Amino acid sequence: MSESTDAPLRLPRIGDPAPQFTSPSTHGSTSLSDFAGKWVVLFSHPADFTPVCTTEFLEFARRSKDFAALNTQLIGLSIDSVYSHIAWARFMEQNFDVTVDFPILADLSQSVAAAYGMLHPGESSTATVRAVFVIDPEQVIKAMIYYPLTTGRTINEVYRLVQALQLNVNHGLATPEGWQPGDACIVPPPATMKAAAERMASDYEVTDWFLSKTKSPV
Ligand code: BEZ
Repeated sequence: MSESTDAPLRLPRIGDPAPQFTSPSTHGSTSLSDFAGKWVVLFSHPADFTPVCTTEFLEFARRSKDFAALNTQLIGLSIDSVYSHIAWARFMEQNFDVTVDFPILADLSQSVAAAYGMLHPGESSTATVRAVFVIDPEQVIKAMIYYPLTTGRTINEVYRLVQALQLNVNHGLATPEGWQPGDACIVPPPATMKAAAERMASDYEVTDWFLSKTKSPV
């Protein structure tokens, strides 16, 4: 299944405009531009009706309303047909009582997968890897995650990532290792000698001039 190739892999980068697309999906024709003004989590899986993908997809579907509460639209993708996606979603509903309420792109042309660098031929020449793109309301890429075929993602980490990105955009704060909502946040470090001296005298929780924390606003 795996094969190496010398063909260059085009990867989008954090800060790039998200590649626009219009694709068949389980919700009809779906375009990225349909979701301008919302955050988007666009994620790929290798194939419908495979075990690791099923466990991930069930959890994305269970958490869909949590993402919606963050003004965030989930969009799935694989190189499978709409009919396969429909049958798989129905299987999950019938066997796990979980409804997939977000579109799953049927990227048979591989055009979306190629634009987002989801095809890694050294891992698989036929299936998308487990990619996640977090796209902001201006449709700029804010974060990317890539996992191999055999390792399932933790959906709660994707959710936490969206929360941390929104905290940064809305409040200008950064987040330390393992941050969870309610935990103290990192205040961006001062960039001048004068600001460094002022930081030492500030009300923040100051360890040293470059390392200060403040209460989480969320
Ligand atoms: C899975 O989802 O279980 C899977 C898919 C492709 C390769 C290996 C595992």
